[in-house]
Order: sequence, then structure tokens, then C-alpha cells
Amino acid sequence: MSTVKTLSEFIIERQEDFPYATGELTRLLNDIVIASKIINREVNKAGLVNIIGATENENIQGETQQKLDVIADNLMISAMRSGGEACAIASEENDHAVFFDSVLSKQGNYVAAFDPLDGSSNIDVNVSIGTIFSIFRRKSKVGEKANLEDFLQKGSEQVAAGYVVYGSSTMLVYTTGNGVNGFTLDPSIGEFCLSHPNMKIKEDGKIYSINEGNYPFLPEGFQKYIDYCKVDDKATNRPYSARYIGSMVADFHRNLIKGGIFIYPETTKAPNGKLRILYECNPMAFIMEQAGGIATTGKQRIMDVELTELHQRVPCIMGSKNMVEKMLTFL
Ligand code: AHG
Ligand code: MN
Ligand code: MN
Ligand code: MN
Repeated sequence: MSTVKTLSEFIIERQEDFPYATGELTRLLNDIVIASKIINREVNKAGLVNIIGATENENIQGETQQKLDVIADNLMISAMRSGGEACAIASEENDHAVFFDSVLSKQGNYVAAFDPLDGSSNIDVNVSIGTIFSIFRRKSKVGEKANLEDFLQKGSEQVAAGYVVYGSSTMLVYTTGNGVNGFTLDPSIGEFCLSHPNMKIKEDGKIYSINEGNYPFLPEGFQKYIDYCKVDDKATNRPYSARYIGSMVADFHRNLIKGGIFIYPETTKAPNGKLRILYECNPMAFIMEQAGGIATTGKQRIMDVELTELHQRVPCIMGSKNMVEKMLTFL
């Protein structure tokens, strides 16, 4: 057998890394992996089976739901419901958390939050999109129905977080608090295989990633930082390269590999920014910190933010340590 290590083998091998290693988190992660493989299949054939484009519905975010948003959401919810390890799930596409009713699920020790499809605006134009997940131990009593408090935990309480990026290849990157590892889907065997062990982000970088179309609506500090990135100064590797894909997962993944900074700040139009803390900023912050980077709102560590509502938004600045520290001096 070749030295290829599959994700399933890796998760089982690392089981002792998991708090309360009783196999439940292992099974939960594997349930997510199965769902992500099916989402990958749907994403790859989207243009052929008329599942691109929008539905008639608007989600609680005020966004028109794309067909693939709903398909990915349903796949994740059914994987979690049938797996039985999660007692509840929350998702960008559902107004409220789904508290599972079955006796089996109420025994589940974990709750899972998802952005089932991140970067929906890119679906129809064949640009990379992703799935993001975040897992907490429940706070409510095992055997009872879960409740909202199970989700309103600080990011520092996460037991696992990860994302899948459906790009030129499909990769799954995750952490359980013992480093970050990346796996590439080998379609010939239908397995995610370890391709990027122990991922670390460079302390410095030359890529800045922000939607500059928001420039007029940004606080002055962010405007000054964008201007700073464009100054011609070889000594400090500037001007930096502007890269903005519009899928957080894809922008994040590029910076994780090449170094860089990703910013979605507060604007006069969106005083808490756009990105949601539960299923976008916290899981990505967990991965970023585990890879040696920084993840902040500009005022505090993202994973220290207290949550008061399920779809709470926070400003987000994350990436290479030195770049984020420099950026913060402009605020
Ligand atoms: P989603 O598709 O899950 O709603 O997330 C989209 C997010 C994020 O992926 C991306 O970084 C950001 O929206 C882009 O927003 P703008 O188009 O406003 O720049
Ligand atoms: Mn998203
Ligand atoms: Mn989404
Ligand atoms: Mn959305």
C-alpha cells in the first residue's frame, strides 16, 4: 500500500488528540467529510444539472439563496442528523438552529455550525467556493434537547474547525487544536489524502485581500492601510499584490499558503462588517491561530468575542502576524 494517508486514517490516528477521545468526535468529523464529498460532487456537476442560479427565497442574512446553498445545507443537516454525534446544528441558511429530536441525537455531545456554501456569488462563474464548519461540545445536559446557549459559546471553546475549498482541486483543512493539516481529494479513490501536513502561515507576506469597492465606506484607518499597501517602497516589499476572490475560504486558503492579510472590516453600511462569527470568523480564526497567524476584530481577538445571537457579524482582520500587527497600527 503506498504511503498515502487518508483523512479517515489520520483522524483515527490522531484520536488521542481529541478531548474526551471516545470516538464520537472522530465519527462526527467523518460524517462532515462524507457530506463534503457529496457537496463536491454537486458543485462539480452544477452547470450540467441545472442547479446553478438562485432560488426565489431570501435567507435571514437578506441574501437571495442560491440553489447550491440550499442543496449543501440540506446535505450537511441530513449528515449530522443521521450521524447522531451532533445534538443540534446551526447554519447560515437557517434562521434558527435545528435541535434534533431523536433519542440518539439527544445523546450527542457536540453541536456543529456550518456555512454550507461560502462564496455563493461565485457559483455561477465557476470561481472557487467552500464549506466552513465549527464544532463545540454542548453545554446543555446530554439526553436533553439542546438549546441556543450551546451555540453562543466563544470561539476559544471550539473543539474542531475546518473548511473545504472546491477549487482547482478540492481540499479539506482542519484543526482540533493541535496544528493545522490539509488534505487533497483524490477523485480516483474518493478519499481526502494528507497533502499539507502541519500548515503554518508565513509571518510576513505581500498580499492584501479586501474589497476595495468599499473604500468610500471604510473607517479612515483602513483607507490609510490600503494606501500604505500601494506605496512603492522596495525596502518593505511594497507595493503589495491585491488579491480578492470574494469567497472567504479561497482568500483565506491562498493567504494560509502564501502569506498575506484578509480584511472584511466594519463599514458605514455594515457597522459590524459582513462576516458571521459563528460559522465564518470563529472557525477560520481557530485555524489561523493554530497556523501561527492572528485573527482579530481590530479591537479584540475574534475567538474572545462574546456571542449574543446566532447570526452575529464581526469585523474580521486575519493573516500573517507581522502584516496584521502593522495593519493594527493604522486603527
Ligand atoms: P456566503 O457566500 O457564505 O454568504 O459568504 C460570502 C462572504 C465571504 O465568502 C466573502 O469573503 C464575502 O462574503 C465577500 O463579500 P463582498 O462581496 O461584499 O466583498
Ligand atoms: Mn460565507
Ligand atoms: Mn454561505
Ligand atoms: Mn450567503
